[in-house]
Amino acid sequence: MTMHDDIKQILVSEEELKAKVAELGAQISRDYAGKDLLLVGILKGSVVFMADLMRAITIPCKIDFMVVSSYGSGTTTTGLVKIVKDLDQDLSGKDVVIVEDILDTGVTLSNLVPMLKMRHPNSVRICTILDKPSRRKVDITADYSGCAIPDEFVVGYGLDYAETYRNLPYVGVLKPEVYTH
Ligand code: IMP
Ligand code: MG
Repeated sequence: MTMHDDIKQILVSEEELKAKVAELGAQISRDYAGKDLLLVGILKGSVVFMADLMRAITIPCKIDFMVVSSYGSGTTTTGLVKIVKDLDQDLSGKDVVIVEDILDTGVTLSNLVPMLKMRHPNSVRICTILDKPSRRKVDITADYSGCAIPDEFVVGYGLDYAETYRNLPYVGVLKPEVYTH
């Protein structure tokens, strides 16, 4: 019995992820040449993508991580974001790229981006490997986006169900019986 036995369908294969990450890395390397690039990963979902993306970037860059939690009801569009673990460094003058596993309702990032902008960075943009545009509750788009996926709960490539399946090398949909057990 392995994790793979719990997967009903692979939505984004390892090969597709690799190709998308290479594309995003090349794009960011072009756009940020000569800038003070800081990649800000949102833990924990971004760790796998961050590790791959930073190695696909060919210009100098720094990395940092944050832990955020949304509070309030999941159905509100203006829920605030609580910073559970903050960045280690000052953002003034930096060109920030937020690295996310998935842009879903958009509530988290629509609250986080203004909070980071108050710290006087030179710029703030969003890079996500997955995007569920049909789930959006707020008007937000990623500046760099990997794969658009349908409205299904996915795991793998950093994304979890109950903190498990983050280490699957692809993005897949769980079998329904996994939830009921
Ligand atoms: P939102 O865009 O504020 O709704 O929240 C995005 C966060 O919700 C992501 O960073 C994920 O941690 C989590 N999330 C959203 N959709 C999924 C999914 O399909 N699988 C696993 N986590 C998800
Ligand atoms: Mg998460």
